[in-house]
Amino acid sequence: MVQISEVKDPKAKDSSRTAAHTHIRGLGLDEHGIAKKVEGGFIGQTSAREGCGVVVDLIKSKRMSGKAILLAGPPGTGKTALALAIAQELGPKVPFCPIVGSELYSAEVKKTSALMENFRKAIGLRIKETKEVYEGEVIELTPEEAENPLGGYGKTISHVIVGLKTAKGTKNLRLDPSIYESIQKERVTVGDVIYIEANTGAVKRVGRSDAYATEFDLEAEEYVPLPKGEVHKKKEIVQDVTLHDLDVANARPQGGQDVLSMMGQLLKPKKTEITDKLRLEVNRVVSKYIDQGVAELIPGVLFIDEVNMLDIELFTYLNKALESSIAPIVVLASNRGLTTVKGSDDDVKAPHGCPPDLIDRLLIVKTLSYNKEEVQAIISKRATLESLSISAEALDKLAEHAVKNSLRYALQLLTPCGILSQNASRTEIGVQDVEECEFLFLDARSSIAVLEQSKGYL
Ligand SMILES: Nc1ncnc2c1ncn2[C@@H]1O[C@H](COP(=O)(O)OP(=O)(O)O)[C@@H](O)[C@H]1O
Ligand SMILES: [Mg+2]
Repeated sequence: MVQISEVKDPKAKDSSRTAAHTHIRGLGLDEHGIAKKVEGGFIGQTSAREGCGVVVDLIKSKRMSGKAILLAGPPGTGKTALALAIAQELGPKVPFCPIVGSELYSAEVKKTSALMENFRKAIGLRIKETKEVYEGEVIELTPEEAENPLGGYGKTISHVIVGLKTAKGTKNLRLDPSIYESIQKERVTVGDVIYIEANTGAVKRVGRSDAYATEFDLEAEEYVPLPKGEVHKKKEIVQDVTLHDLDVANARPQGGQDVLSMMGQLLKPKKTEITDKLRLEVNRVVSKYIDQGVAELIPGVLFIDEVNMLDIELFTYLNKALESSIAPIVVLASNRGLTTVKGSDDDVKAPHGCPPDLIDRLLIVKTLSYNKEEVQAIISKRATLESLSISAEALDKLAEHAVKNSLRYALQLLTPCGILSQNASRTEIGVQDVEECEFLFLDARSSIAVLEQSKGYL
């Protein structure tokens, strides 16, 4: 039987791929859909942002089904950033699943199955459940020790006393040692706001009580108010998962708790094959939950970069998947003009390497190269975010690189420049740091020049 409530918190996924875009916070449009020059973390690229804004409106008014978006433009012009911004505009916790066309090919998984998996990673499900919980700010956390019942000289934890405080009062709970483990896993300390599910004993840390907000904290911390109401109460718990999380949770072999089967799990690689049958079964349960009003479907954004890497078989599959009743918003990106469609018999060239029946479904948004001013603003924005200060001349020099080579290259130089300036105990990145980077690293153009001179060797 497919289960839904048992899904563990999905781990933070794939943050590495969006790390370069942490300054992007949306498309930065005003109420008329007009892009301000600098807004939402974006600088310039105004018509592409406005185009994407229209797409967001179409999605919100549910008129995008069966269609997809293609972002076309040279490398480093913000295509990935725009796709991320579309997902952000659709609302908080909307899944964003970025992939590269070539990722779909592997020896283990069929390519269409890999595409389906990513489709399901981009479809969210918000599950609302009312659960009996104990919630409050932790005012006491004391493990109680006892003689080890199994003998030996050590002691074990027999209980843990947790004191919880709300605006209405306090309660002391005497809990099982297994709950103490989950308390430690969540790194709960006195002063945190937590809730404990009464049935399962699952512990969830909500945040730090805002009574402590004045204290100096190094890490980014979320402060939450003292919970209202009683400690023991019914609470609506919202869980965001993707269809893929549910597939995985249900594909895992449900081994027993005995030692042998645990050993078995360690030795054998975990088999997590997700079959079409399992997906259908998950869908069936999901639609039941949706009918009952327990869950809500949240279609997210599937971003496929380098779309020309898809072949004709994947394109056919994509066309079909776009028409299914639960599909995410598909955003494609390409920096190619006319190229051959992979896997087509006749070597016909097609725009962006997409077959004509897909092109028909696309809204194409064009991104343009940046001028030096825009590039300067983008670099300085990234520098602030990475807490690097940079002198005006150094910024100018990096911007020249961005115009000559690529924006991404210039942005990548920022971090090494920061390290060099730090090593030389300078407080800001100077021209000499950029020059040293130029000396240490080759950019694409100079490496081509070297290759040409030395007949093939660097
Ligand atoms: N208009 C812009 N404003 C702010 N940052 C931008 C802009 N365009 C691109 N960037 C940043 O520049 C880098 C490269 O852009 P990216 O979206 O990866 O380009 P593409 O996907 O077109 O190759 C990223 O760090 C991105 O966040
Ligand atoms: Mg990109």
